[in-house]
Amino acid sequence: MLNVNHLTKTYPGGARPAVDGVSFDIAEGEIYGFIGPNGAGKSTTIKCITGIVGFESGSVTICGTDLKGDPIRAKRMIGYVSDDHVLYEGLTGTEFINFMCDVFDVPSSERRARLDKYLELFSLTDAIGKQIKSYSHGMKQKLNIIGALIHEPRIWILDEPMTGLDPKSAFNLKTLMREHADKGNCVFFSSHVLDVVEKVCDRVGIIDGGKLLADCALSELKVTGLDASLEELFLKLTAEAEEGGAPDGEDAQG
Ligand SMILES: Nc1ncnc2c1ncn2[C@@H]1O[C@H](COP(=O)(O)OP(=O)(O)OP(=O)(O)O)[C@@H](O)[C@H]1O
Ligand SMILES: [Mg+2]
Repeated sequence: MLNVNHLTKTYPGGARPAVDGVSFDIAEGEIYGFIGPNGAGKSTTIKCITGIVGFESGSVTICGTDLKGDPIRAKRMIGYVSDDHVLYEGLTGTEFINFMCDVFDVPSSERRARLDKYLELFSLTDAIGKQIKSYSHGMKQKLNIIGALIHEPRIWILDEPMTGLDPKSAFNLKTLMREHADKGNCVFFSSHVLDVVEKVCDRVGIIDGGKLLADCALSELKVTGLDASLEELFLKLTAEAEEGGAPDGEDAQG
């Protein structure tokens, strides 16, 4: 469903690419966790896939549509939760959700039922009529999550979505991710919380220095003889990359 092929992105003035020849595929029904140290290139990869920043080479294909060839069609199939909480602070929560519904053509008859489900799940019913500027950090995060999900995107992309969520909301988000993937969509998210990635994901990618060091099913981790938890694998691969001894992305992918 989501195909990323030799994606390379260098920021203006950057000494080296922030994302360097990254390739992976996410299939229908899969949750893919994207992990890597600070500055590894996770958010940049996500911003390339969502069309927020351009890239100099490689391709991104969303359900068969090339992002550069038909960006509007490709973006309509994506729901994106960013790592910052840039929202229209002067709007109420309801106005923001309606705005997202208008952008993505969610039928008026379906909006209320979809929204009510999420408001109850994330305990936002009392706040939704209030201006976003009065929301806490976690409340803004939850509104972002609802705004990205309200049009039922085929590909749901989240950049460090657990940040700021209370334990119940984090649990509910993990459940929502599973439900969304099980409906025949896919979920791609970055995280520093390896326990969450290990619990919720079907596949995982490890990136460092812009290069994909590993791309494998979590079930494969258990049988490759690595005898490693995800944390051990992460620490091993990123330490090797730091020493300059990492295998290149192609060799490491499984
Ligand atoms: N807007 C920008 N302009 C120039 N360089 C940038 C910009 N955004 C990110 N970078 C650089 O690109 C590299 C990758 O950054 P990116 O934000 O993708 O990392 P990340 O893996 O998301 O890190 P974190 O875990 O801290 O969120 C870093 O070297 C960073 O300094
Ligand atoms: Mg980031």
